[in-house]
Amino acid sequence: MASEHQTGAIPGVKHAVAIASGKGGVGKSTISVNLAVALAATGAKVGLLDADIYGPSIPIMMGVHGAPQGEGQKIQPLEGFGIKLMSLGFLMPDNSPVIWRGPMVAGAIQQFLREVEWGDLDYLLIDLPPGTGDAQLTLAQTIPLTGVVICMTPQDVAMRIASKALGMFRQLKVKVLGIIENMSYFICPHCHESTEIFSRGGGRKASERLGVPLLGEIPLDQELRIGGDLGQPILIRAPESPMAEIYRKLAGALAERIRVEALAIPIIQSR
Ligand SMILES: Nc1ncnc2c1ncn2[C@@H]1O[C@H](COP(=O)(O)OP(=O)(O)OP(=O)(O)O)[C@@H](O)[C@H]1O
Ligand SMILES: [Mg+2]
Repeated sequence: MASEHQTGAIPGVKHAVAIASGKGGVGKSTISVNLAVALAATGAKVGLLDADIYGPSIPIMMGVHGAPQGEGQKIQPLEGFGIKLMSLGFLMPDNSPVIWRGPMVAGAIQQFLREVEWGDLDYLLIDLPPGTGDAQLTLAQTIPLTGVVICMTPQDVAMRIASKALGMFRQLKVKVLGIIENMSYFICPHCHESTEIFSRGGGRKASERLGVPLLGEIPLDQELRIGGDLGQPILIRAPESPMAEIYRKLAGALAERIRVEALAIPIIQSR
């Protein structure tokens, strides 16, 4: 574990972007994996850090297993579909439950940020656990984040919880880059009718109410879920599918948002 709490950017990493949510199970890990692959498809260098210590999903969703090797002082990340990966799941492959206190979680995340040889990356996406706990706090206090993306489902209760997460990041002075609404609707493969299973418009409503851009709306899709279980991101599994196109657009929207954010000149207040 890192013996002292270092702060400052990760050398070589241009943009560290956290993927967060208030509620669990809204699709953060699915979004992180598929966004990472869609960003990499544009030619960007991408890394993906699984900061969900209690429930790491990235090894399964990327279909990558193995033990990262240490080289000198640093740990070498694994790689899948050209994306550099680190997850506690690689280090505890036997699926044993992690029973750790908060400071140990914080230590693991600091180690993943500081002691992994990330190399030169345009984007390091960080898949967070749900809520507003140790992982979020440690991340925000360890490296400067370009920003955070908040994932939510469309119903009202999700919106209330998403706004709490958003409030936490604002309090921590982390820029909220945008909201992604997941499980927005379901198109029946037989009759092609669209059903709004979890209500509709929560993402747009939240975006307007909280003054944050809506980066995209992702429908429920069986192939996306199957791809997650099999370790086949949608751009690999079905590159010509409408879902792959949705993710390409989402990656474009996020990259553009990051570009604009990076150009933003800090407003110098006179007093
Ligand atoms: N748009 C979607 N269509 C179909 N299934 C989806 C979609 N998004 C996510 N899922 C499925 O929902 C489940 C939960 O998704 P995921 O693990 O990505 O959520 P999470 O927010 O990371 O959860 P946790 O809070 O536990 O980390 C997974 O089985 C995933 O495959
Ligand atoms: Mg997850």
